[in-house]
This record gives sequence, structure tokens and C-alpha cells, in this order.
Amino acid sequence: MKLVSALLLLISIFLASSCKDENNTPDPKLSTDLTGIPYNPVNYDLVVYDSFPEIIIPADNPLTKKGVELGRMLFYDTRLSSDNTMSCASCHLTTGSFTDNMATSTGVTLEAGNRSSMSILDIAFNNQGFFWDGRAATLEEQALEPVTNPIELHESWENVIAKLVADEDYPTLFREAFGISNSDEITKELAAKALAQFERTVISPGNTKFDKVMRGEEEFTDIELDGFLMWIDYPFDLLPDAECGHCHSFHLFTTNEYHNNGLDEAPNMTEFSDLGLGGVTGKLTDNGKFRVTSLRNIELTAPYMHDGRFSTLEEVVDNYSSGGKYSPNKSELVYDLKLTDYQKEALVEFMKTLTDVELTEDPKFSDPF
Ligand code: HEC
Ligand code: HEC
Repeated sequence: MKLVSALLLLISIFLASSCKDENNTPDPKLSTDLTGIPYNPVNYDLVVYDSFPEIIIPADNPLTKKGVELGRMLFYDTRLSSDNTMSCASCHLTTGSFTDNMATSTGVTLEAGNRSSMSILDIAFNNQGFFWDGRAATLEEQALEPVTNPIELHESWENVIAKLVADEDYPTLFREAFGISNSDEITKELAAKALAQFERTVISPGNTKFDKVMRGEEEFTDIELDGFLMWIDYPFDLLPDAECGHCHSFHLFTTNEYHNNGLDEAPNMTEFSDLGLGGVTGKLTDNGKFRVTSLRNIELTAPYMHDGRFSTLEEVVDNYSSGGKYSPNKSELVYDLKLTDYQKEALVEFMKTLTDVELTEDPKFSDPF
């Protein structure tokens, strides 16, 4: 009799555990008291390159060492996806300067989106909306979207939180980062805050050739110098003004504003294939406008533009040089520049002085797992 009940017990344990496996999603109600773990937040000292503007950090989400550490783990954790195969880093790889080097990104369902992955480098300086079309107001708000987006991680936050709550390490990490007293206080908002903290640390240290030349430590080659002079339109008559510096301005190489740089032909304001900013604001005059992105590390982030239509920087420059395609609100700064082959090459060579591989190989941005 004893043997039978022992056997039954074994069978029921086996059934219970196999059931749990099948289900895959841990019990969300799991709760662990965390008050025994010390909470002593220490500021994360972000060193900002002198030539950069002030960094924008919201008052309710200051950078702390533990917050950044937690954010880095979440950024690389594949459990944020429905089949546990993809993480944020799958589309924001350090090798591509935090892009995926694809024309448009493909999520867990292998369904391709219509937009190209964006670099997260120096986004801490942006306060004019996130995504190509500006639809997220803050980084915290942005971080909530990829998890549930069906063409990205395609998972519910409820499931993600359940996975985090049941994990061995996350409850402690959330306690240390945000002072929660029980694992059931882990929320998507806190996860988004941690992700945003990590992303804000991904900034250029100012070690590109361009920065070194500006500091007088190195010199441009002749062709790089010509590209630079066309960028800033100086001296005024020797070389054509390429106009680039108005929108890709020093030292971030972006104003983070929204412009129509002549990618799509549209006979009138409603016929853009992607409305961009206009799709978000509903304003007709915003149709066809996209965010100006930083050109730091642009050599590493091909293909280019919101839909990855250009494979090389040469193609990009060709498009600007020809004046782009007609639409009523195309920027006045994009017109037939009549550049020679040498002048186009000079712009490309200048852009390559913005490359910083040390930054993308920095261990503090790498996979912590
Ligand atoms: C399937 C690929 C994919 C995954 C996974 C992904 N992203 Fe992205 N990311 C993109 C694409 C594509 C865009 C541009 C989308 C758009 O503008 O519509 C983008 C844009 C962004 C931006 C905006 C950058 C800017 O300059 O405005 C941030 C920040 C970002 N992603 C962070 C994250 C975080 C954090 C995660 C994980 C929670 C994540 N991404 C997961 C593909 C991905
Ligand atoms: C009127 C503002 C404006 C001017 C002038 C301008 N750009 Fe841009 N640039 C943009 C915008 C907006 C985008 C993003 C457009 C998109 O993807 O829809 C962009 C994108 C780019 C990209 C691709 C960025 C990426 O992440 O894929 C490169 C490279 C670039 N510009 C280089 C240049 C060069 C070189 C010049 C000068 C010949 C120049 N730009 C002039 C506004 C401008």
C-alpha cells in the first residue's frame, strides 16, 4: 500500500511538472518578500563629451548603477520575446552600431516590417520624439512597444513579467534598482525605465577621427577636408555647398528634427507611400517627413533611410546630389547640387571620419549573459 501511494505521488509530481513545462509561462502570482535585500541606489556617472549638449534625464528615472545593469540584462534577454529567441539586441546589434544591418527588420514571426532598425547611439540627447515618425514621446514609452509589437518580439507584457518574477535573479535586481519590496511589484513600467537607463548610457565618447581633428590631435586627409568644407559651406566659393550640415549638424550630426529629404515622389500631399510624421500628428504638412538621424558611426549602419532603400553611402550621396524626388514639402535644402564624382566621394570620406569601433566594442554595452 505504501509503495502504491509513493508511486502515485511520484506520478502526480511528474504530471504536475510536465504540465508546467508544456504551459511554459510561470505563475504570475509568485511573490517573494525582498525587504531583506539592501536597497542603496548609487548614481551612475555618465561622462558626457564636452562638445555635446546637456543630456536629458527625466526626474522620475535617474541613472543608477543597478538600474543600468538591469536595463542591460533586459536589453539582451531573449525571454522578452514570445518564443524566447529574440531580444532587443537582435535588432540593435553592437556590430551594426546598434542596428541590424537589414533594410527592414524581421521579428520572431519572421514577418518583415516596413521600417529599418534605428541606432540607439546618442539617443539620450533626443527630446523630439522617438522612431522614424516620432510616435513615442519618451524613451520609457518607446521601450514598451517592441515587446508587444507583432512584427518584433510579439509577446504580452503579462507573460514577460511572469517570466521575470519567476526568475532566480530578476527580483533581486529590480529590488536593487527600484527599491520594490516584493517580487510581485515588478511591472512593465519599471522594466521600461531600466531599459531606458541602459540606452541613455550608450553615448559617443568623442573619439572619432572627426572629434580628434576638431581637438587638434589629428588631421583630415585632403579629400576628407574637402568633404568637411562642403558640409559646413566654407570657404563659400571654392567648393559647392552640400547643405548637409543644416540637418546633420555638429556635434551630434543631427538636429533630431523632422524633414522630407526627397525620398518619395508624391504629386500631392496625400500620396506618400509612408506618411511618416504625418501619420502620427495627422497634419497634412507633416506627411512624408521623417526624423533626421545621427550620422555618427554611419559607416556601420547600412543600409540607409527609414526603409533601408540605399545599400551604400555612395547611393545616399547620389540621391542628395540629384536633388531627390519631387513632393510639395520637400526641403528647400535638397536640390540638384551638381556635384562632381570627386566631390561626392569627398562627402562619403568625410562621413567615414565619424566611425568609432572602440565604442561598439566597449564591454559595457555587450551581452551580459
Ligand atoms: C524585430 C526587430 C526589433 C526588435 C526586436 C527591437 N527593435 Fe527597436 N527598432 C526596430 C525598428 C525597425 C525601429 C524603427 C521603427 C519605426 O520607426 O517604426 C526601432 C526603433 C527603436 C528605437 C528608436 C530610436 C530612435 O532614434 O528613435 C529604440 C530606442 C529602440 N528601437 C529600442 C528597442 C528596445 C529597447 C527593444 C527591446 C525591448 C527593441 N528596440 C527591440 C527594430 C527592433
Ligand atoms: C533637410 C534636411 C536634410 C539635409 C539637408 C540632409 N539630410 Fe540626410 N537625412 C535627413 C532625414 C530627414 C533623413 C532620414 C530620412 C528617412 O529615412 O526618411 C536623413 C538621412 C540621412 C542618411 C541615412 C541615415 C540612416 O540612419 O539611415 C544619411 C547617410 C544622410 N542623411 C546623409 C546626408 C548627406 C551626406 C547630406 C548632404 C548631401 C544630407 N544628409 C543632407 C535630412 C537631411
